[in-house]
Amino acid sequence: MDRYGVFGNPIGHSKSPLIHRLFAEQTGQALTYEALLAPLDDFTGFARTFFRDGKGANVTVPFKEEAFRLADSLTARAERAGAVNTLKKLDDGSLLGDNTDGAGLVRDLTVNAGCSLTGKRILLLGAGGAVRGVLEPFLAERPASLVIANRTVEKAEALARQFADLGPVVASGFDWIDEPVDLIVNGTSASLAGDLPPISPSLIRPGHTLCYDMMYGKEPTAFCRWASEHGAARALDGLGMLVEQAAEAFFLWRGVRPDSAPVLAEVRRLVLAG
Ligand code: ATR
Repeated sequence: MDRYGVFGNPIGHSKSPLIHRLFAEQTGQALTYEALLAPLDDFTGFARTFFRDGKGANVTVPFKEEAFRLADSLTARAERAGAVNTLKKLDDGSLLGDNTDGAGLVRDLTVNAGCSLTGKRILLLGAGGAVRGVLEPFLAERPASLVIANRTVEKAEALARQFADLGPVVASGFDWIDEPVDLIVNGTSASLAGDLPPISPSLIRPGHTLCYDMMYGKEPTAFCRWASEHGAARALDGLGMLVEQAAEAFFLWRGVRPDSAPVLAEVRRLVLAG
């Protein structure tokens, strides 16, 4: 059976083995997929050993930049993201690096939530790897405007400069903005600590604005709670993005696109059950 896995540290709570097992069952693909704890001081050696017989791997925190450097070739979206979350061994033995995070988020928003990004005013919170990874796929949907707001404004400015050739992207501080937008995506790691970026509730047009947190948990995240309290049309968490980035990776490896909806429902059930 073809061998796949996910490299991370820590990796114990990864949902990826479950998601890919469900994809494989559903599509009748013969493969194994394991969670692999890679050492912090030798990611490259660990990955090279795996790929003696492994066919492909997902890469998660904190190795996405190291995977970017490890890859022999890169897709355009991985090149722009500066990070790799999916590695595929090609027929010549070389490693292709891809980044399916942004495509996964766009698919969760456009297909699952039915929210087109074209012509929309979008606010992205944060300027770290999570936001960088979604900028190219977001701008490809041709929004009317895309504002990157970050606590450290210089990081938002640097990102906006690097992606300015792809569309109407500008940088901001959290307290410079208060006009309502169509979509707010939280890509800060503030949720991890149950924290919230200090943004104005007036960014939400009640009943209209869609709010999306890239994080997820058993309970609604602090950002989703804030969004619901201020009347957001919907407050979605990042579990759909997780399943959709996995579906993109599965498609890259196997050439078959799984039906993500029943898998997302099953993963949601397990997350809620704790
Ligand atoms: P990731 O790869 O998950 O994006 P990262 O590169 O460390 O992680 O970026 C974390 C992001 O969350 C940054 O935008 C960070 O803001 P700074 O650039 O100012 O550090 C943001 N962040 C983390 N904790 C935050 C908090 N409590 N409030 C607001 N922003 C926060």
